[in-house]
Amino acid sequence: MKKLFIIGNWKSNKTSQEARAWAEGFSHVFKKQEDKEVIVCPSFSVLPTFHYFVLSAKMQIVIGAQDVSPYDEGSYTGEVNAKQIKETAVYVLIGHSERRKYFSETNDMVNKKIKNAVDGGLIPIVCVSEVGQVQKDWSVFQEKLLIAYEPLFAIGSGNADTPENANAIAKQIKEIVRVPILYGGSVTEKNVASFTKMGDIDGVLVGKASLDPHTFASLIINA
Ligand code: PGA
Repeated sequence: MKKLFIIGNWKSNKTSQEARAWAEGFSHVFKKQEDKEVIVCPSFSVLPTFHYFVLSAKMQIVIGAQDVSPYDEGSYTGEVNAKQIKETAVYVLIGHSERRKYFSETNDMVNKKIKNAVDGGLIPIVCVSEVGQVQKDWSVFQEKLLIAYEPLFAIGSGNADTPENANAIAKQIKEIVRVPILYGGSVTEKNVASFTKMGDIDGVLVGKASLDPHTFASLIINA
């Protein structure tokens, strides 16, 4: 059976208090499944609290950040570097379309972030909305990088891509870089299996449906 990555991206949602309530709710309903790696990505401000809850409740989830500085430590006001993130997280989302859209993140910036993340011991989950954004050079990071295909029309719209099209795109991406490929965009507990059963899709990146612990737990069971 293939290993599935189920990633919850909380985006700019949840205070530390709310994250604590989520962790309590989730730990009551979630049972670890060997073939599924569950990754949750809270905001930077919430990472230490969430990390503490995950450890103390021995929750079988792995933590990711939602962004990383393109620079090492130093005089970069407001940035959080890979070394700082590594204290609490294993994975990091890079190049999400919301960062490209609202914060003018370019492919060049994405590449700097990937390099800094890998050098700092983090595993990047690089988000792309089309095959053209995938770079052959990323092959050097094999085993240390995941790619999430997230078509723009599907993000937060309730209008997911078809599993067949998402699988075809995942296959094309694998021909460029042989790494696990996830699908993201309006994944729900109802449609998740239609994506995860496809041969070239290795998991899902979930926004809205990860915010409620019971919904996210059901989504993981159904995947
Ligand atoms: P959504 O977000 O599941 O709410 O569509 C997915 C994402 O942006 O990663």
